[in-house]
Amino acid sequence: MYITSNIVISALAATVAASPFKFPLPDGFPTPNPTQLAEIEKEAQGSPPNGPLPKILKSTGITTLQLLALNEIFEVAYFTELLANVTNNVPGYDAASIAPLDRTYVIDTFTAVVNQEKLHAAGVNGILESAGQPAIQPCEYVFPVTTFIEAVILAQTFTDVVLGTLPEAQAAFAADGGDESPLVPVFGSVLAQEGEQVGFYRYAQKKTPSAAPFLTGGSPSFAFTAIQMFIVPGSCPQPLSAVNLTTFGPLTVVTTPAPKNMTLEFAVPGTVAPDTNSIVYLSGQNLPVTVPISTVTSIAGLSHFTASFPFESGFAYGLTIAALVKGTGESFMSNDAVAAATLYGPGLIEIG
Ligand SMILES: *[C@@H]1O[C@H](CO)[C@@H](O)[C@H](O)[C@H]1NC(C)=O
Ligand SMILES: *[C@@H]1O[C@H](CO)[C@@H](O)[C@H](O)[C@H]1NC(C)=O
Ligand SMILES: *[C@@H]1O[C@H](CO)[C@@H](O)[C@H](O)[C@H]1NC(C)=O
Repeated sequence: MYITSNIVISALAATVAASPFKFPLPDGFPTPNPTQLAEIEKEAQGSPPNGPLPKILKSTGITTLQLLALNEIFEVAYFTELLANVTNNVPGYDAASIAPLDRTYVIDTFTAVVNQEKLHAAGVNGILESAGQPAIQPCEYVFPVTTFIEAVILAQTFTDVVLGTLPEAQAAFAADGGDESPLVPVFGSVLAQEGEQVGFYRYAQKKTPSAAPFLTGGSPSFAFTAIQMFIVPGSCPQPLSAVNLTTFGPLTVVTTPAPKNMTLEFAVPGTVAPDTNSIVYLSGQNLPVTVPISTVTSIAGLSHFTASFPFESGFAYGLTIAALVKGTGESFMSNDAVAAATLYGPGLIEIG
């Protein structure tokens, strides 16, 4: 099957009723005993780094690691459930229906991935604990997918967000310096590992494994907000408000985007106006692109509006992040500057 449709994931998509995914896992995760940990390492096809861990973290480093731990634990939940769906032949999860995959290869792949994610999560929490910070505990999760291909597309999308987040994490560790400096290459290795995963998720859809010459960056609060699309509200043992990041309102991308200049329709649960708001896109390693909004209408309590999507003026295939910001006509010089002005986002757009 050749997948031609582009998809849009929005915060509103998570309102699917299903029983939430809960930890701990049968293998003891998030607190496996030494025997269980040895089995996780075997399935992960390798061991965690064994060099010394930081004893001192600065506040940005702590926030960055908390975000990464929240993300890695969410990924363990997601891939555990996806692997179980394939293994248990849940209707819609016949991986063999997706050429060029066969079921055993898919099970082997997700067995490796989920155990690799467990070691990523344990590794990040180990760094926090080494510096006297509490480990991040799992929440409960619900995922807006019911078929194998939807699950692969969503895995591609949230892993693309991670690929934009890890370089920001590396920049934060480098700027903090000190004990955090050795984390820069460690998370470079995680970044590459997650890139290998996206290559598989794209291949499973018959997309070119590598999307673009330069992939889309992010900003920590965009990733923080995106993860919460899958967290059951109020289910986290530690309040998410303790993480020093911003949770934005949801920005829904109503139109299915295509790799050409076009107009997109968006929706937000609040008031917007062309003279006070604009849409900003992050695509590739380009400077953010600001476009005006127009045609605001109210539909079922949401503000709908349109904005141009100038894909043919240098956008990258793969992920584009959209944000509804305060102000008009502003030329943002960084993704973090966009996040600082954002009211609603991220709108996650996947092209090609
Ligand atoms: C697994 O299948 C169930 C039942 O269809 C579905 O609700 C859930 O979202 C699926 N999870 C993943 C990660 O595919
Ligand atoms: C939270 O982050 C902001 C910068 O985004 C910083 O100015 C502030 O000091 C941080 N607060 C704490 C408690 O670390
Ligand atoms: C796409 O839109 C951009 C921005 O408006 C414009 O500069 C460019 O010429 C357009 N390209 C095509 C092929 O229409």
